[in-house]
Formats: sequence, structure tokens, C-alpha cells
Amino acid sequence: MPKPTQLNVNGKSVTITVDDPDMPLLYALRDNLGLHGPRFGCGLGQCGACTVHVEGKAVRSCQIPLSSIAAKQKVVTLEGLAQGNKLHNVQRAFIVEQAVQCGYCINGMIMEAAAFLAKNKKPSEADIKQALANNLCRCGTHARIVRAVKRAAAVA
Ligand code: FES
Ligand code: FES
Repeated sequence: MPKPTQLNVNGKSVTITVDDPDMPLLYALRDNLGLHGPRFGCGLGQCGACTVHVEGKAVRSCQIPLSSIAAKQKVVTLEGLAQGNKLHNVQRAFIVEQAVQCGYCINGMIMEAAAFLAKNKKPSEADIKQALANNLCRCGTHARIVRAVKRAAAVA
């Protein structure tokens, strides 16, 4: 039976109606709320394309049951990362470094990197590589992605 569920997404309280409260958070974000920042890649927690923040932590939204998210827990998608018209440092750095080919992995990379840099102000290149090791890029854009994250760290 359809059930109303309350969420806090990108700073707004929203109510959605779902048939299955245990469906992945990713589906609620994309299908119910029309937020396409988080992407469906593998659906198995292995690629990182669906990465969002929950209470500031980077999580794989394809693996999080909607029912496990409390109404007051802050969920942030790529759409909520900028402050108004001001892009997040990581977004700006990805643009400056042109760290994109097809772009499929990039939203997840940015969300993972933003959560990482919020806790690690002065990371080494090795730290950055380790933080992004489980975010896959089939285009092989890794070198530019790492440069972008280094750039973002330098201006943070
Ligand atoms: S789609 Fe979630 S980790 Fe790949
Ligand atoms: S830029 Fe194409 S998958 Fe990463």
C-alpha cells in the first residue's frame, strides 16, 4: 500500500509516497524527486555513481533502504552542493581541470571528494587516490580527477 515518507533533501523537507519503503534511496531521489545528480551505475554498491551525502558522510544511495533514513537526517545530492550560485570548490576545480570525459562517474566523484575534503583539509595525493579508489571511471579520467581534487584542497 502506498505510504508517505518524509525526507530532508538539499535543505528542504519533502514528503513522497512510495509503494516499497525499503526501496533504495537512489530511486526515491531520482524517480520521486527528479534529482538526477545521483546516477544508477551498477546498483550493487561497487561503482560510486550514486554517491550522495547523508549527515555529511558519502554513501552509496543504491544500497541504502529508504526506510533507514530518518526524516531529519540531512541528505544532500549534487544538486544541493552549491551555495546558491556559488559552486562548491570541488565543482569549480573539476571544471577548471576539465576532469570529465563522458561524465557518468563525475557526480559521484564530486560527492565523494567533497565529503572527503570536509574531513581532510590537507590531503596528500596518496590520500586522495585512496579516498576515490572505490569510485570507478571507465573513461580513465583518473589523473585529471585527482588533479581536480588537489586543486580543490588547495583553495579550501
Ligand atoms: S550505482 Fe550505487 S555504487 Fe554503483
Ligand atoms: S568520465 Fe566517463 S566514466 Fe568517468
